[in-house]
Amino acid sequence: MIRLRRLRASENIRNLVRETRLHKDELVYPVFIIEGENIKNPVDSMPGIYQYSIDRFDEELERIEKAGIKSILLFGIPEHKDECGSGAYDENGITQRAIRHIKEKSPDLIVIADVCLCEYTSHGHCGLIHDGEILNDETLPLLAQMAVTLAKAGADIIAPSDMMDGHTAVIRKALDDNGFSNILIMGYSAKYASGYYSPFRDAAHSAPAFGDRRTYQMDPANGKEALRECEADIEEGADILMVKPGLAYLDIVKEVSQLSNLPLAVYNVSGEYSMVKAAAANGWIDEKRIVMENMIAMKRAGAQIIITYHALEVAEWLREN
Ligand code: PBG
Ligand code: ZN
Repeated sequence: MIRLRRLRASENIRNLVRETRLHKDELVYPVFIIEGENIKNPVDSMPGIYQYSIDRFDEELERIEKAGIKSILLFGIPEHKDECGSGAYDENGITQRAIRHIKEKSPDLIVIADVCLCEYTSHGHCGLIHDGEILNDETLPLLAQMAVTLAKAGADIIAPSDMMDGHTAVIRKALDDNGFSNILIMGYSAKYASGYYSPFRDAAHSAPAFGDRRTYQMDPANGKEALRECEADIEEGADILMVKPGLAYLDIVKEVSQLSNLPLAVYNVSGEYSMVKAAAANGWIDEKRIVMENMIAMKRAGAQIIITYHALEVAEWLREN
């Protein structure tokens, strides 16, 4: 008889043959920084997640340091929005100031800066608009300018999440031309038009005022298209690829990990987090067990980097073990 149970017989044997492990250095914690003073706003749809003003962010930095988390993904929330998202590429915009503050307090913390216009535009779309159309090529220089201002402020990694065609090449060139050839680009390579982003849009005030994002984000029904997006990002100079969302797209994570030798990140997005938190709050699931199972599933599928709102608690649980 083939006795597979021999390999499961004890804790030590299971540990010996375990194929996938999780380490806190692979976790990225997304954070929200809002314009204003003395603000720590809970995000209702994301229990445990807050919007902080810059002056209150030090307490979050302390939590991050205490948990031993080494990377954050930063989202700025401006006070004023306009048609062309000018706060996004303002040298003194909320995100640029937040990065300077963080780099002063925690110079070694890896700051990944999201590049997109949707938090900054009055219409909430990720690009410029004309006659209801999201303009691709006209948006590119603004994204490039945003990336350069974020790099100047001290960002280590630029992560363009706008899904405009050609953005990675334009951003790479702008960074290089401005003396930032060492700044990395983490592409949001395969980003789907997903219902899982809605809690994030509460947190970042970035819901589109009309329509949806289906003309630029990917159709959830498509897999091969994700590989084309990744190929484009590789060709255009991305250093790290990403699949987003995570759990409903693990087949894509697997395929991308087989397609490319670039490091691969997966974004365990807001809706995935909120669903776990809601079920846990009702006492319907064992939160720690479910979260750790989700984390290991994303790694097993082929991701090396996990961007997750659970990062601080996961780091704590890893320490306990
Ligand atoms: C901005 C952006 C979004 C997310 C990351 N960057 C929202 C969107 O595309 O509407 C979603 C992250 C999450 O849900 O946790 N383009
Ligand atoms: Zn956007």
